[in-house]
Amino acid sequence: MPEAASPAWAALDAIQEVTLARHVRILRARIVQAGGALSFAEFMEGALYDTEIGYYSHETVFGATGDFITAPALSALFGQCLARQCAQILQRAPGQIIEVGAGNGRLAVDILQTLEALETLPTQYVLVERSARRREEAQALITREIPQQADRIVITDTWPDTSASVILANELLDALPADRFCIHQGRVHPLLVCVEGDAFGWREGAVDVRLTETLGTSGWPEGYASEISSRGGHWIGEAAAHLGTGGLLLVIDYGFPAHEFYHPQRHSGTLMCHFRHHVHSDPLVLPGLQDITVHVDFTAIAEAGHAAGLMLAGYTSQAAFLLSLGLAPRAHAEVRAHMEEVNAIKRLTLPHEMGELFKVIAFTRGHAPPLAGFHLLDRSQALTRR
Ligand SMILES: C[S@@+](CC[C@H](N)C(=O)[O-])C[C@H]1O[C@@H](n2cnc3c(N)ncnc32)[C@H](O)[C@@H]1O
Repeated sequence: MPEAASPAWAALDAIQEVTLARHVRILRARIVQAGGALSFAEFMEGALYDTEIGYYSHETVFGATGDFITAPALSALFGQCLARQCAQILQRAPGQIIEVGAGNGRLAVDILQTLEALETLPTQYVLVERSARRREEAQALITREIPQQADRIVITDTWPDTSASVILANELLDALPADRFCIHQGRVHPLLVCVEGDAFGWREGAVDVRLTETLGTSGWPEGYASEISSRGGHWIGEAAAHLGTGGLLLVIDYGFPAHEFYHPQRHSGTLMCHFRHHVHSDPLVLPGLQDITVHVDFTAIAEAGHAAGLMLAGYTSQAAFLLSLGLAPRAHAEVRAHMEEVNAIKRLTLPHEMGELFKVIAFTRGHAPPLAGFHLLDRSQALTRR
């Protein structure tokens, strides 16, 4: 077993050791086949999404027994707030909701339960999810918790051939394969993944003209390394093509505007890996067994929305968005349940938890009312390139 592919802190069981060895074998063969190196996006694609060996094809990913927790897994309060934002749009523009990267369906169920209570159900709710395992989990959750809504729900792995009133994505963009680069003598070089002895290592590629044009050459400290995700902008273009008139595109994820994303002090980029709630920054270990993510450059996302003909309708922190939409503990008879809700609210909103790092960006097509979720705070001005 390549030592660097299995760090001591991971303490793998026998099955995981065998699985990891297989992942490493397959990825090494791909690197050799590609002539000695893969772009980081290609490596991330294989490690996360290969239908056989990819991380997202595994059984447990989200939640306390998995590797990381997302807001829908934390509390139904998150979905209830999002549902209130959806309702504002659906009341004026009744139609479909499309949720992309829907995971195990938890958010869809929470949103639909709330919209049912508000009597503002969408004509259809489409869950688009790449992982077959997650689609199965979503189907089981829907059958168990909202069987009465099954007729209006579609679970698929690709965009439907329709246009929607609302398109949602929670923690999708951070999971899209991204490229890495480094600055060497004022030029932008891609960072490629190669085989290094028994392990994987980094190799600096030849100067990349496209990356150099996009990122510019001035002001970068020597040795600076970071990431760039062209797939995020591409995804916004796809979403725009599926958004109907008066519709809302809502994206929630962790990240910053460009001037913070590429801040000189953030000199090693934003890569984050999750393995059993252990967070670290080495994506070359535990391929296929750990999650790999990259923060979102929200300025690039705003520019992609603009290029796709959408109007920026708001940009704010997750905390301000949820509080604008009435996030508050319900009055519970049971004190314990009440305390759990209060704890979830703290994790969703406190600055050192998910409240500040996670942002919400919204686009509309054509005329739409001021969105309820940006009532307390709208930081759209922060997205301007400086
Ligand atoms: C970090 S998880 C978030 C899941 C869920 N939204 C949540 O908040 O719990 C990202 C999900 O996006 C899915 N995904 C990644 N790329 C996708 C794509 N292009 N289309 C649909 N789903 C995708 C992954 O399989 C994974 O389930």
